[in-house]
Amino acid sequence: MNDKPMTLEEQSAYEYDKAPESIGSYLQKADIQEKTVVDFGCGWGGESLWLKHHGAAKVIGIDVDEESLAQARVFSKGEVEFTSNIASIEDESVDCIFSTNVFEHVMNIPEILDHLHRILKPNGTIVSSFGPLFYSPYGCHFYWAHLYPFSHLIFGRDWLVHRIDNIRGFESNTNSWEDMGLNRITYDEFSREIQKRFDVKELNAIPVAGLPFVTKIPILKQFLTFGCEMHVSKAA
Ligand SMILES: C[S@@+](CC[C@H](N)C(=O)[O-])C[C@H]1O[C@@H](n2cnc3c(N)ncnc32)[C@H](O)[C@@H]1O
Repeated sequence: MNDKPMTLEEQSAYEYDKAPESIGSYLQKADIQEKTVVDFGCGWGGESLWLKHHGAAKVIGIDVDEESLAQARVFSKGEVEFTSNIASIEDESVDCIFSTNVFEHVMNIPEILDHLHRILKPNGTIVSSFGPLFYSPYGCHFYWAHLYPFSHLIFGRDWLVHRIDNIRGFESNTNSWEDMGLNRITYDEFSREIQKRFDVKELNAIPVAGLPFVTKIPILKQFLTFGCEMHVSKAA
């Protein structure tokens, strides 16, 4: 485990290197050869570039973080388009949308899912997996802060901020979990929003490692669901 956050350059390279196991695994579910593909929540663009190098005709990386996009543009050297404005993408212009580790950070889920539905061609697909969800053991995401499971839920946000500020050596300027990029959505809430809009081929709760059966107990489900994997499509 790293002791400190990565630099922007390291983030792009890390994303490119992890792509075969993360976004690359989606190629078993959706063919991207000569297709227009969106990498939604592309971050530092490493996975977007990997998709362009593996057969997509056109890749559009979407992210709300302009600093990440600036780094993504440098890294991809013009091979990928990037935008922070999903509204600028034309209706029914995209064959497939891939997204890794993003939906637990998206604040306006219904509005964003409406846009993703709008830009997809009929029969177009979304393949995504994401986590950790907020209520899971490390749902605050600060892996490098050497936390105990659920410590963000047990000790709360002020305690966590104090700890990460001490490690980073500067003060966080946040007042809420949302300011920290965590929407706190549960698997069931997300799943309901998906089913309102898309045809579901696959929509699964990913259990916390080694605990697949415990997620079937309703009261424990949200605490022991690591994340979500899905493959959905827009009706023809
Ligand atoms: C954990 S990073 C994942 C980056 C990359 N997909 C990866 O797996 O390495 C989550 C990304 O989602 C982006 N994000 C959050 N809300 C978003 C939104 N509404 N639209 C697009 N991107 C968003 C964040 O800015 C951040 O870059």
